[in-house]
Amino acid sequence: MKIKGQTVIVDAFKGYSRRDFVKYFFAGSALTLSALNKLNASIYQSITSLNERYIEDESPDGVYWDALSKHFLFQDGLIMMNNGTVGPMPKPVFHTLMKYFRVQVTNPFDVYAFIPRKIEEVRTKLAEFINASPDEVVITRNTTEGMNFVANGLDLEEGDEVLLSSMEHPGGTHPWRLKEKRFGIVIKEVPIGLPPKSVDEIVSAFEKAITPRTKIISISHTVFISGLIAPLKELSQMTHEKDVLVLADSAHGIGMLDLDMKRLGIDFFASSPYKWLGAPTGVGLLYVRKEVQDRLWPTIASSGWNRYNNARKFETLSQRADALTIALGEAIDFQNAIGRERIERRIKTLAGYLKRELKKIPGVKLHTSEDPYLSGGLTAFSVEDIDPEKIVNYVREKYNIVVRTIGNKIQGTYGVRVSTHVYVSLKHIDMLLEGIRHLVKNKK
Ligand SMILES: Cc1ncc(COP(=O)(O)O)c(C=O)c1O
Repeated sequence: MKIKGQTVIVDAFKGYSRRDFVKYFFAGSALTLSALNKLNASIYQSITSLNERYIEDESPDGVYWDALSKHFLFQDGLIMMNNGTVGPMPKPVFHTLMKYFRVQVTNPFDVYAFIPRKIEEVRTKLAEFINASPDEVVITRNTTEGMNFVANGLDLEEGDEVLLSSMEHPGGTHPWRLKEKRFGIVIKEVPIGLPPKSVDEIVSAFEKAITPRTKIISISHTVFISGLIAPLKELSQMTHEKDVLVLADSAHGIGMLDLDMKRLGIDFFASSPYKWLGAPTGVGLLYVRKEVQDRLWPTIASSGWNRYNNARKFETLSQRADALTIALGEAIDFQNAIGRERIERRIKTLAGYLKRELKKIPGVKLHTSEDPYLSGGLTAFSVEDIDPEKIVNYVREKYNIVVRTIGNKIQGTYGVRVSTHVYVSLKHIDMLLEGIRHLVKNKK
């Protein structure tokens, strides 16, 4: 195709029959909407029969997961091992997204008779998915927005202290930097190891840094540089005795880990469901524990901010791209059809295999903990005398594997980061390892 935009559109529809493709562009037709429903129903039917065949067994040969990976949208041959920024979408989510965009476009007024109800259904699903109450769930645009809502909405005074870890993402540091500049709060950075050796190492580093002026710990749950999964449960147990709040930046957490807000015990939790959960870009989650809601001001105010007595008061954002939120509900359905616990287990199995094999390669330094409690689907590493960029470019060119560089040289965190979501197979990991071994063997 000559027109670049068109080429992209056609690529996105690879894997569909020509007939389906034509149907997608049949705007507003009832047939098209029912075709989308049918496609989704057949995908869920196929997952149900897979589940029946492999009830407990993870199918170490990968049959279950190989079959499942067909339900994701990828360009032909692309091996997606980077869930940062934005991850791929399962087909049912894309279908629902198109369906509701079309519904909204073709009858922009009447849809508001049912859209608010649909959004509330998604809130309830989201709450169940993370073991929270719907009254604690704010549907945001992304993690960064959630982090800003918390930093902006807390009453802090000059001299009040906020503890961050040394490995925060800009979306988790800048909301506090802004507050520092406006209100004179004090930000203290707590170093964490690459990787830390134990839960206790992290918890005691934060405990030591707490003073009578400390108001909140703002920490990455899923550390983007190192792949660490921070021990939120132990941190919140330690802080609650001291009346220090905990805000978790879990940009990668939802869809990667089997989350349980009650078990974690934190106060605030921000996440981006378009990285690991397969939701569309532009819809996010902020959990605000019921008991701390009256300590947080809404950042954006329209009708309802002073009326709601629950998390909805933080969400009076006026008109939204509702199709995104409804598609988020579909992403939850898709993962529920497989099982959250099963997904986390598979992700960790793949990451464990990758780490074990990486360690056998001379010169490799793992930046990610090998402890499955302190790690998840993000694995970071460096190789002595090989620029991470060289690895990233080589495996893309040779195998069409997408991984990324991460961290920085000054901090000593510069490396390669690999995501191992459920559509990645052991075979893909072996290809990646083969590429790294090749570069190690041929380094000058
Ligand atoms: C740990 C962490 N926090 C925050 C963000 C920002 O996420 P978003 O752009 O979805 O707000 C990212 C992005 O990758 C991240 O990895």
